Amino acid sequence: MLLAVGGGISAYKSAELCRELVRRGAIVSCAMTRAAQSFVAPLTFQALSGRRVATSLMDASEEAEIGHIRLADENDLCIVAPATANLIARIAAGMGDDVVTTVLLATRARTLLAPAMNVNMWRNPIVQANLRRLLEDGRFETIGPGVGDLACGWVGEGRMAEPLEIVEAAQRCLRRDLEGRAVVVTAGPTVEDIDPVRFLGNRSSGRMGYAVAQAAARRGAKVTLISGPTSLATPPGAERTDVRGALEMRDQLARAAASADVVVMAAAVADYRPASPSPSKLKRDVGTTQLDLVPNPDILAELGARRDGGRLPVLVGFAVETEDLEANARQKLEKKKVDLVVANRAEVGFGGAENEALLVSREGVQALARMSKDDLADRILDRVCELLSAGGSATPPRAPPP
Ligand code: CTP
Repeated sequence: MLLAVGGGISAYKSAELCRELVRRGAIVSCAMTRAAQSFVAPLTFQALSGRRVATSLMDASEEAEIGHIRLADENDLCIVAPATANLIARIAAGMGDDVVTTVLLATRARTLLAPAMNVNMWRNPIVQANLRRLLEDGRFETIGPGVGDLACGWVGEGRMAEPLEIVEAAQRCLRRDLEGRAVVVTAGPTVEDIDPVRFLGNRSSGRMGYAVAQAAARRGAKVTLISGPTSLATPPGAERTDVRGALEMRDQLARAAASADVVVMAAAVADYRPASPSPSKLKRDVGTTQLDLVPNPDILAELGARRDGGRLPVLVGFAVETEDLEANARQKLEKKKVDLVVANRAEVGFGGAENEALLVSREGVQALARMSKDDLADRILDRVCELLSAGGSATPPRAPPP
């Protein structure tokens, strides 16, 4: 893997990171920006990695020996640590003005950024926009930054993640345990039309389902995302179908689930819809009025019943509750005949970037600490992988498409 070191004081921690990676058996090539070399000498990384360090594009002997295109091609993962505001900006702008940015421009490998900077720089909308641009590309991931005392004297977000955290994130980036699997994810709210301009909806942002879709694609799955209306960008690598109401979601899911290994039902499906939506806009001059509702099908329970017990696909449901979290989740597990229920409290999970969940399956209950929805997505998929392998030889991965 490639360790690209940016010019920040936390470059000293990247030496420790290099050491940890090598200790765990990784072959690590290092590249440094000019500013990074003012903080730590290239010799340090050479000694720790056992390989010559790339420091310049223009040095003929170095280029002959290392070659920036070779560095771009031969590494399965690039780690940028520290990823300074300046380095993030240069990568986001597609610049190739030194050996680090040129390699990152040419590589097709996943790239893990470990941002480190002053708290006000981190909060600057320009920095955040640059980062968003990279994350939308799908090849980039971030770890950190953490909160704490910063070298500049401020306290806040901006500390580079600790070397061991970066190592763990790198291991996550390299995991391909869903290779050859077809994963279908539903996400977002369903909206049930009252008339051409009004609808019944709910406060689901879609973030949890999108995080699962993104993590599954990163882990090698062929991902179909069936989404109610959200403002989120399609996760890289996922194929997305947009729907509005529950009936439309049910149709699309039936089609996709037929060849799926896993279905994750993260959508907040409306339980009711207007009995007879009006084809024209309703007028207010009717005075007091009533809206008749009819129940929507329970899409997940229908899938569970059709699957008849243990056969594929592995079914994951969500339970959003305001009380009796575990009991309600267990009830949904049995009633809907699913393999795993991700249970969370409405006040924590809805709308925000974090969640705190119980993973409830027939094997037991796992209580997870509050974490980002991206991290939770990976924890859910860890359980899904266990359930897939518990299916053993009866559930071999489908052959990848030609
Ligand atoms: N679900 C579904 N179809 C519905 C309602 C819910 O497929 N009509 C799915 C959701 O996507 C979720 C799970 O069922 O994965 C549980 O949803 P939740 O709203 O918590 O439960 P309900 O079954 O609607 O039960 P209640 O609202 O009474 O708690």
